[in-house]
Amino acid sequence: MGIRVGVFFGGRSVEHEVSIISAIQAINAFDASKYDVVPVYCARDGNMYVGTKIGDIDSYRDIPLLIKRSKRVICVRDAGRCTLSYYPARRLGSSFHAEIDVAFPIVHGTNVEDGALQGFFRTLGVPFVGSDVTASAAGMDKYVQKVVFRDNGIPVLDCRRVFAREYFSDADAVAGETGRIVGYPAIVKPVNLGSSIGIKVASDARGLKDALDYAFQYSDAALAERAVPNLREINCAVLGDQESAEASECEAPIGADEILSYEDKYVSSEKGGCKGMGSAKRVLPADIPPETRERIRGLAVRAFRALCCAGVARLDFLMDGSSGEVWLNEINTIPGSLSFYLWEPVGLPYRELLDRLVSLALKRAREGASIAYSFETNILTEMRPGGLKAAKG
Ligand SMILES: Nc1ncnc2c1ncn2[C@@H]1O[C@H](COP(=O)(O)OP(=O)(O)O)[C@@H](O)[C@H]1O
Ligand SMILES: [Mg+2]
Repeated sequence: MGIRVGVFFGGRSVEHEVSIISAIQAINAFDASKYDVVPVYCARDGNMYVGTKIGDIDSYRDIPLLIKRSKRVICVRDAGRCTLSYYPARRLGSSFHAEIDVAFPIVHGTNVEDGALQGFFRTLGVPFVGSDVTASAAGMDKYVQKVVFRDNGIPVLDCRRVFAREYFSDADAVAGETGRIVGYPAIVKPVNLGSSIGIKVASDARGLKDALDYAFQYSDAALAERAVPNLREINCAVLGDQESAEASECEAPIGADEILSYEDKYVSSEKGGCKGMGSAKRVLPADIPPETRERIRGLAVRAFRALCCAGVARLDFLMDGSSGEVWLNEINTIPGSLSFYLWEPVGLPYRELLDRLVSLALKRAREGASIAYSFETNILTEMRPGGLKAAKG
């Protein structure tokens, strides 16, 4: 029997579909002689499903039908192990579906990639692939990650975070002030989304209001920053943990417009498209001078470490095409297609990338086992009747 890996994907996120593509690519790339993969689809309503069709991409053309043909499960901790059980429980026969040794979240976006699913696994006590709760949460928040990066000496663009509440109380004043701080052209993004959803460029105060209104359709906080002129984008992935981390090849993604759109990333790549980030248009290796490549790879590893990431993450940089100046734009703690295509050029096939990710998860679980999680005291046994004092000093 191989290592039992539960691949969790989908989720209540605008990037639900991209996650299905990323996950099924991975499921097909696992070495079947080493792993027993259990695909677990997290539907938009929050329920989890298993079944023979759950790992088959064609089934997702008709999700209601797929769900009808699949079985709903819940994850429970039983005898120290993570078990998938049918829900509602069977009246006759066993409700057991499978046990998993490691959970592999291949999800993108809010409610899943942002530490939520990671926290669920942590509570269940099952080892899981990728960044832990804090790094996942910080990595989803474009403002929080910038603060951490800046504090660690990594170049990022100055920004202004705007809350919807504050903005809607006096939109003209807030937009005016934001424009003065950031300058024009400015770019506005929802603070915690991905896949270029909710993003607009503004060239004046009026445009900035439009952009803020638009971003607030998707999130209750937005980030405004200067739009980089003559933009070139360079992405680089990092694999590892705090102890050791290495950088992949660099890519230059190519978009049809001034900002890379959802379609550029996932749809327009080929006829019949929809192959996920693995087939988006790009120059790989990126056509940049060797010293720029090394600088970006070095910054990527430093940023990965600064946020205490683990597993594989992709770090996306912005470069001013004329001055060559580089800023870290954002981290993706679960990158589209797990960025497997950035590892192949440095000699790491997808199958081995998955091996490394599972090993890192098991290593963290072993290391975590030596941390004390209970602090024995006798405050409850020695308590006098009615003796509840203020809790938590
Ligand atoms: N400061 C900027 N200047 C110019 N273009 C930008 C800037 N920030 C983002 N973009 C463009 O918008 C795209 C999406 O922004 P990004 O911050 O990466 O958000 P997402 O999480 O949605 O990918 C980027 O890939 C890039 O094309
Ligand atoms: Mg991005």
